[in-house]
Amino acid sequence: MLLSGRGSNFQAIAEARLPIEIVAVISNRPQAAGLEYARERGLAAIALDHTEHPDREAFDVLLADEIERHQPDLVVLAGYMRILSPAFIARFEGRLLNIHPSLLPMFPGLKTHERAIAEGIKIHGCTVHFVTADLDHGPIVIQAAVPVRADDTPDMLAARVLQQEHRIYPQAVRWFAEGRLAIHHGRVNLKDDSASQSVFSTER
Ligand code: GRF
Repeated sequence: MLLSGRGSNFQAIAEARLPIEIVAVISNRPQAAGLEYARERGLAAIALDHTEHPDREAFDVLLADEIERHQPDLVVLAGYMRILSPAFIARFEGRLLNIHPSLLPMFPGLKTHERAIAEGIKIHGCTVHFVTADLDHGPIVIQAAVPVRADDTPDMLAARVLQQEHRIYPQAVRWFAEGRLAIHHGRVNLKDDSASQSVFSTER
């Protein structure tokens, strides 16, 4: 689990009773609240301060080495707010998941809620995807949609989206753990798709 801050997605995954073991939680910011939560749960909580390693490539090698020490099957980016170097992504490709607060490929990058409101779109949401070298454009595992209301502020919309993030990220991790995700030609196939309804779930 990699994070940089609050760690609410990590918390949602940790509390979802998934058939997984979280072997380590690593933050590039030592003060991240997510690290504190990991310690409270008795998980290995590791701070690797990127400001002490100004060279991104060198930092990412340290980070990748630290991750591999714990031998994870899956690396989960849960609010990890740093762009990863291509070498890092190549090392974990196919076992690196991210959550992004928009319906990709709309609104890659930052300030997604603000931009969604400015565009006047009526449906917004979140996406769990495999990470590739193409920023916020990897194969999509699951998305959830929420309405954009006329009087929404970015914070209100973010809170509505976040509720859905906490639902779909554990679902995606469960599918991965069950070996049900296969990538073909840049698209994710869900094996044994009897639960396909949940792929398209929206806020009720
Ligand atoms: C979430 O909105 C996530 O989509 C984005 O960063 C935020 C992290 O929140 N990548 P948290 O740290 O999981 O609470």
